[in-house]
Amino acid sequence: MDAYSSSDSNHGSVPRTRLFGRERPMHSVLGRKVADVLLWRDTRVSATILFGSAAIWFLFYFGEYNFVTLSCNIFITTVLVIFIWSTGAEFFKGGRVSLISKLRSRAVQQPSLGNSAHCLQVHNSSDLELHSQLKEFIPEQQKRLKKLKSEHGKVQLGNITVDMVVGGMRGMTGLLCETSLLDPEEGIRFRGLSIPECQKLLPAAKPGGEPLPEGILWLLLTGKVPSKEQVDSLSKELRNRATIPDHVYQTINALPVNAHPMTQFATGVMALQVQSEFQKAYDQKVIHKSKYWEPTFEDSLNLIAQIPVVAAYVYRRMYKNGRVIPMDDSLDYAGNFAHMLGFDSPDMLELMRLYVTIHSDHEGGNVSAHIGHIVASALSDPYLSFAAALNGLAGPLHGLANQEVLLWIKSLVEECGENVTKENLEDYVWKTLSGGKLIPGFGHGVLRKTDPRYTCLREFALKHLPDDPLFKLVSDLYEVVPPILLELGKVKNPWPNVEAHSGVLLNHYGLTEARYYPVLFGVSRAIGICSQLIWDRALGLPIERPKSVTMEWLQNYCKKPA
Ligand SMILES: CC(C)(COP(=O)(O)OP(=O)(O)OC[C@H]1O[C@@H](n2cnc3c(N)ncnc32)[C@H](O)[C@@H]1OP(=O)(O)O)[C@@H](O)C(=O)NCCC(=O)NCCS
Repeated sequence: MDAYSSSDSNHGSVPRTRLFGRERPMHSVLGRKVADVLLWRDTRVSATILFGSAAIWFLFYFGEYNFVTLSCNIFITTVLVIFIWSTGAEFFKGGRVSLISKLRSRAVQQPSLGNSAHCLQVHNSSDLELHSQLKEFIPEQQKRLKKLKSEHGKVQLGNITVDMVVGGMRGMTGLLCETSLLDPEEGIRFRGLSIPECQKLLPAAKPGGEPLPEGILWLLLTGKVPSKEQVDSLSKELRNRATIPDHVYQTINALPVNAHPMTQFATGVMALQVQSEFQKAYDQKVIHKSKYWEPTFEDSLNLIAQIPVVAAYVYRRMYKNGRVIPMDDSLDYAGNFAHMLGFDSPDMLELMRLYVTIHSDHEGGNVSAHIGHIVASALSDPYLSFAAALNGLAGPLHGLANQEVLLWIKSLVEECGENVTKENLEDYVWKTLSGGKLIPGFGHGVLRKTDPRYTCLREFALKHLPDDPLFKLVSDLYEVVPPILLELGKVKNPWPNVEAHSGVLLNHYGLTEARYYPVLFGVSRAIGICSQLIWDRALGLPIERPKSVTMEWLQNYCKKPA
């Protein structure tokens, strides 16, 4: 599958666009530009040409011509054109030109999609807008859900046992999540694509490089593999949305500087909430429920754009005396995040791209995604929902595990030295377990094999830092820990998860502050959680309210004859 090939083989490699009811090949850049202007796809150019020509005609009509008036007219027209050009992009941004957007979205025809990712070619400039792509896709999926409910609403998906009720709902299918699906044996698939497939298909910053997280965001939302052009356009859009109101920094500053980074980060997210478009629209009673997804989309994109800046602020405040590094407009989302943290080596930028991509989504039932979903099901906006999700992510069984892994490995080195034998390792693992503690980075609630996210981080390490002593230790632990966990007889998955590996890579490139690691996870997880929230609203999913029962109820129920 080629990410840039046409979805329609008849089209060959010539880009095509719809113009005046027919699809036509666009052989030149100028041709595409003209079509864009005629169909008002490039708003700024169209508006500038329209107003510019109107001004010239007006002056011709009413002007009394001599050299002075003609020069004045030309001067005024030029100023007018420059003004419209420079302000046009801002003015026409967002949903303020709904009629124009409608015209534009009608001009683009995308193939209908299932749940797996499709590949497409850029046809015209509105293909570059995530919002219009989503707007095309949503009605199809709404119809699909309606049909599913009416045709199969009463089909049983399994039986609920007492073990499931008292055992954290393990194995109980109870949530709808469109963005990704976790297979216990194979691991995560994002809209049908495995991690190696994403690495191959999603656009990268450089040829053969790691996928750009903007690509996974596009994929999760639209079900399509984006082109490099689309990803670059989304990068730019995210940079444009990344301005942080001052009160956010002041709110974080009110906390002690040594407060846990997750506390500072979640506080920053809560402070961002005051700008929620969803809350504004809901409070002003100006929005129909069928349109809830639109301000949810706005909030989500703003949130995704802003949180690396907030996260970097927390890092610089805590560990670098508050010396903040501004965003670099030439960099992509994850590259910029690494840069704002203070890491500019090309390999660290690549690691950050991979890290943010693979941590983004893990279907709907994990703690953070589930919390985000349930809070949003009460129509809380994305900021409130994501802040709640972050608080779940801050738990050691979930997102904090990456902090725990590095601290555990470092204390192992402190106790046993750098040249640890396998026997030393076994002793240390047993000592941890007999102290009533967990082995961080191993086990999983759903997965039953080695996490493919672990595998891809291992491949990154083999390529970039094969001789790092902590990487060698992680490789040894891969051999030592699973047999011991199996020996316990109760651990359902003895294999490593992603967090067993992420810390040593970050540590290698100088990001050594383990307490900060869950924040990185949080930045990445915003992409998946916000994509899920947008789809929750697009599909009109109801408030989540499962039934709970008491032990007495369960005992009485079990005594009843079958
Ligand atoms: C991820 C995790 C929370 C899944 O929990 P789970 O679904 O309850 O896992 P299991 O069903 O296999 O647990 C069965 C038992 O094995 C134990 N167990 C599971 N993983 C373990 C580990 N890594 N170390 C020690 N014991 C472990 C559980 O605590 C449980 O013990 P209990 O019955 O005495 O309470 C668990 O494996 C864990 O705590 N791992 C370490 C933390 C971690 O890496 N989290 C990141 C996950 S991406």
